[in-house]
Amino acid sequence: MTSPRTTLSLVDTDPAELAVDAIVIGVHSQNTEQESGSPAAALLLASGAESIAAAFDGKLTETLALLGATGGPGEVIKLATLGTVTAPVVAAVGLGPEPSGAAPAPETLRRAAGAAVRALAGASRVALALPLPDDADAPAALRAVTEGALLGGYRFAGYKTKPQPARREPVAEVLVAVPDAADATAQAEVTRAQAVAGAVRTSRDWVNTAPNELRPPSFAEAVAAAAREAGLGVEVLDEAALAAGGYGGILAVGQGSEAPPRLVKLTYTPQGGGNGKRVALVGKGITFDTGGISIKPAQGMWEMKSDMAGAAAVGAAMLAVAALKPSVAVTGYLPMAENMPSGTSYRPGDVITMYSGKRVEVLNTDAEGRMILADAIARACEDGADYLFETSTLTGGQVIALGKRIAGVMGTPDLCERVRAAGDATGEPAWPMPLPDDVRKGMDSEVADISQVNAGMDRAGHMLQGGVFLREFVTDEVAWAHIDIAGPGYHSGEATGYWTKGGTGVPVRTLLHLVDDVAANG
Ligand code: BES
Ligand code: MN
Ligand code: ZN
Repeated sequence: MTSPRTTLSLVDTDPAELAVDAIVIGVHSQNTEQESGSPAAALLLASGAESIAAAFDGKLTETLALLGATGGPGEVIKLATLGTVTAPVVAAVGLGPEPSGAAPAPETLRRAAGAAVRALAGASRVALALPLPDDADAPAALRAVTEGALLGGYRFAGYKTKPQPARREPVAEVLVAVPDAADATAQAEVTRAQAVAGAVRTSRDWVNTAPNELRPPSFAEAVAAAAREAGLGVEVLDEAALAAGGYGGILAVGQGSEAPPRLVKLTYTPQGGGNGKRVALVGKGITFDTGGISIKPAQGMWEMKSDMAGAAAVGAAMLAVAALKPSVAVTGYLPMAENMPSGTSYRPGDVITMYSGKRVEVLNTDAEGRMILADAIARACEDGADYLFETSTLTGGQVIALGKRIAGVMGTPDLCERVRAAGDATGEPAWPMPLPDDVRKGMDSEVADISQVNAGMDRAGHMLQGGVFLREFVTDEVAWAHIDIAGPGYHSGEATGYWTKGGTGVPVRTLLHLVDDVAANG
């Protein structure tokens, strides 16, 4: 299931003369406390809009204010240009208060570009003349605008049987106005944004695909096909191979479903061996999480089709890695299972011998993610990872603790800090959380090496229990980070910024940033 793609290129000619369906400019809201009432005084055109403003004879801010523009983030006000500039429409996108530095924060630009491109659906060709700094911050700002624009053009193809006349097609082509379109650094950002946004779109498509269409065998096949085409090494372990290999955790969760489990391994080998470091990316691929025998309430259960968002992010990030060719080895591990209640399901009380050889006492079959991840993590460590980044829609506790937008990070402290920094740089915020001894103590099992959840079945440190459990399967010398995306992996609300309803693609851009970080800094 692929959605139509938006294309993007750079221009350095006068935005007022661009033959496009719409030209996007930025507007800031101004602090009006000391101003004297005129609404136009509350608006400030952002840089990039100069020639458009000139064509309007100084009346542009006033006109926008009359149309209700406030410059608030995400606001898009459209205006017919009536021949003043070549484009028939100007769209002013709100950037919030005027920035203290040279340009708005990258995430402000990313969201504004996304909101503008979304609001212009129906137009085939649009240009963005947004404020871009011409200093050291230029690449980050351009990266933000290009990513935001391409992601704002995302729409899931969906399953409607009839054409939707009222539905406007996403923008097909975006031009981004820059000082020098031939600049090699700027061009490199465009190439990167295309690969990165392509990966985010792919991961969104996988998450948005209906769970009857994406069960472990078909998900594995979809990932494997895309990976082969991208030139990655591909290995798919089916249920027989998993049994032969002793992947007890993946098999236990998968045994309740008629659609058997899989473990997909994707390998990227850099030319000349890269910098000698090996990165492992691991993603939770529960194609549907009913909870199993410890079944979930019906209310909202359909959202558990997104319980493979971690695997989708890892698989899609690997496709971008294949395209971007970083100088570091990267291997992706995608354990996949469908967590179903049936006569063959695993049960509370079961003791499972995991891939690592550790024995786990199951107390709640709904804590299935950690079961499949533990095996994939152990395998990644065995294969010889230096850095292991694992991401999963693991606990409702993450949403309670940090909300819908900020991922929780647990693991080796310095790696957690690098994940936090990567999240900050990409606009995918992530916050370090501890792995307390008392939480581990609470998971001591009477009969096995560890319980899968707190033996008292209380929810104290709910998110942390997930991290503490996974730590048991990481080899000592491996630096690791567990990124819980239960909230940010899926957006249940209306479209906003460069997010659409459904899969968000978080944390694809964080993972790619981290791969670049390890390639550059070890
Ligand atoms: N997939 C869920 C976690 C989840 C919850 C993701 C909400 C996205 C939104 C996970 O498998 C789960 O069921 N976790 C349980 C763990 C509990 C049984 C220890 C939870 O969070 O309640
Ligand atoms: Mn569950
Ligand atoms: Zn789950």
